[in-house]
Amino acid sequence: MERIFDEIIDRSGTNSVKWDGRKLFFDSETALPMWVADMDFDNAPAIKTALHNLINQQVLGYALPSDTLYQSIINWQNERHQMNIANDQILFAPGVVGALAVCIQAFSEPGEGVMINDPVYTPFASVTESNSRKLYRSPLSISNNQYIMDLKDIEDQFSRYSIKVFLLCNPHNPGGRVWSKEELIQLTDLCIQYGVILISDEIHSDLVYSESTHYSPVALNDTYRDTVVTLHSASKTFNIAGVKLAYFIVCNDELKEKISFVQSQTEQSGISTFGMVATEAAFSESRDWHNALLEYLEDNRQYVTDFFDHELLEVRYMKPEATYLFWFDASTLKTPGEALKQLFVDIGDVALNDGTAYGESSGQYMRLNFACPRTMLEEGLKRVKKVFDEKTAE
Ligand SMILES: Cc1ncc(COP(=O)(O)O)c(C=O)c1O
Repeated sequence: MERIFDEIIDRSGTNSVKWDGRKLFFDSETALPMWVADMDFDNAPAIKTALHNLINQQVLGYALPSDTLYQSIINWQNERHQMNIANDQILFAPGVVGALAVCIQAFSEPGEGVMINDPVYTPFASVTESNSRKLYRSPLSISNNQYIMDLKDIEDQFSRYSIKVFLLCNPHNPGGRVWSKEELIQLTDLCIQYGVILISDEIHSDLVYSESTHYSPVALNDTYRDTVVTLHSASKTFNIAGVKLAYFIVCNDELKEKISFVQSQTEQSGISTFGMVATEAAFSESRDWHNALLEYLEDNRQYVTDFFDHELLEVRYMKPEATYLFWFDASTLKTPGEALKQLFVDIGDVALNDGTAYGESSGQYMRLNFACPRTMLEEGLKRVKKVFDEKTAE
């Protein structure tokens, strides 16, 4: 049976980073794009209707965040993540990465330390370094083909260095790990003990598969509300990254003042009307679409893992508990670092993200985005297999 997410949408020529950026990032116009984290699916109908209505009804001048937007966020966080928040604990930003930068500026001084896991989503390191903070990496361990935090290492580094901020990717990109409640409690307790502000990037928290449960530190213990800032957006889940709206959840007044101060210093207040309208329509009116999406993605995840289990037996991978990103170990290709990315383009005509971008420990990994119609996924996996078949036959 044809399902809504089966529809192939031609995105080339739409200024899409994923499709039209292939020339710039892969020097190819044909490689099947299975890289940057956006989905090749049509938008939820309620979002499209809301945006059409906006254009028909309103002058597009400067906007204030609406009460209904606040309420849609409050309800979503309460229903989905058991978070209890109020309007005045929400601040807006154009994107989560920009919000990470604001947090770094708000809670540390140049030269002071910011800790991240290794590997992790690329901008965690780049935004730290571009803000002249000292970067500390805590390598993730692997247990049962999943990443786990090395809490001993984190504590050791907290005790030795002047670390002010921890940037947590929760759930984890690129590994797709959903952190356990125990790991999050231990990490947050360590942050409190050593005076470290925990920034929990939860942009992937609504892309969690049926066997897992996402926990948000601020929902685990009231005292955590004073040391944790949560970052969230509808952009990944509803594929609306282009409308540019994210938000901070910050429950402590002092932390909130510091964030607001940096935002006003850099003239970053104000809100995108398109972002506001699309986000509200996502959270308030697109539950069925979201449920159907998760079902489709879970089927795609099964398809990818079955494919690797049957066709690429020698390749280790991490089955994602969340995200539509599939992280596999390409070390049998015996090709180092960035050359690996080129190998997939040259032999397979497929564009994937290479592990070197995510840290010092993951150069042999590749990241494949499976948020696409099934037929496209089938084609992409054939291309990936071709690379392994040809290269290992040499
Ligand atoms: C963990 C994480 N945070 C943030 C972002 C990007 O957020 P934004 O586009 O809102 O800056 C991504 C995009 O893939 C991501 O994976």
